[in-house]
Amino acid sequence: MRGTVNKSDLIRLGYLDIKLDKTLNLVKEISALRKEKNAVILAHFYQEGDIQDIADFVGDSLALSQQAANTKADIIVFAGVHFMAETAKILSPTKKVLIPDLKAGCSLADSCPPEDFRKFREKYSDHTVISYVNTTAEIKALTDIICTSSNAVEIVESLPKNEKIIFAPDKNLGNYIQSLTGRTMKIWDGACHVHEEFSLERILDLKEIYPKAKILAHPECEKPILIVADFIGSTSALLKFSENDNSSEYIVATESGILHQMKKRSPGKNFIAAPPKDSTCACNDCNFMKLNTLGKIYNCLKYELPEIYIKEEIRIKAEKPIRRMLEISEKLGL
Ligand code: 13P
Ligand code: SF4
Repeated sequence: MRGTVNKSDLIRLGYLDIKLDKTLNLVKEISALRKEKNAVILAHFYQEGDIQDIADFVGDSLALSQQAANTKADIIVFAGVHFMAETAKILSPTKKVLIPDLKAGCSLADSCPPEDFRKFREKYSDHTVISYVNTTAEIKALTDIICTSSNAVEIVESLPKNEKIIFAPDKNLGNYIQSLTGRTMKIWDGACHVHEEFSLERILDLKEIYPKAKILAHPECEKPILIVADFIGSTSALLKFSENDNSSEYIVATESGILHQMKKRSPGKNFIAAPPKDSTCACNDCNFMKLNTLGKIYNCLKYELPEIYIKEEIRIKAEKPIRRMLEISEKLGL
């Protein structure tokens, strides 16, 4: 392989960025390109505000996978992380699925390597496997039903009470679901580096400064944060709560990108990002999500790179548990 890789291969593989013409009006150019190519831009709530504002659809993991499954576009540009774009490709294999930066991974998905998980599954071979959508296609292929934080309780409860369950890979979400459903599950020991970083002490200090503020937390947070939270939910549930609730101040314990959408939908309210344990870092930013930029979206649409590829054998196996999740969610009106 050495010596045979040229610059365009490196760009295709996402190791080299395409140089950007700094004089371009990116918003205008992106709009023109997406029209010309019949492309749709899907963005997660953790993206930068400028990306959320130009997207055709902004949502949580469940809503984004539903959009990806039903879009009539020829090209899907996924402004999110790799497992999200991969899920879109699994559901829409004939479409071109692009991701602005191929290096946008996920520490939670990485915390569940397929070979180790295969052994775990073999050890509990009489268990039904429920995996969070934050997993690689290989893990999905080893799974019976996928869930997201929007439907995890309902997915677990859709199984008979005596069914033995493996829940992977997020231990915080798994423990939280276990406490709500009363099921005892075999939980994989994985976590998200952003949600494990919130500091209980610093959140409580903030609460002293803003005594009326409600604490909103994503279930990927550690138990002490969930204990003090006034409301726990997926990104879309947190957003909805903040819109409908009658308080005016909130401390938000999830990735900071959601604050853009919260402020946009409730301009009169005050949203404060929950602080991380390390006061010197912006650890409540997901460094993977934040790799995407408007410039990369422009290049991605223009050159139709980097593209998501999945081995068909894996894709077919991974599609089944995602479809099961979508069917259950549809039946329940989620
Ligand atoms: P949801 O948008 O489904 O709540 O997921 C949050 C998340 O961790 C995405 O990386
Ligand atoms: Fe993964 Fe955590 Fe980033 Fe979500 S916030 S993409 S779970 S690393």
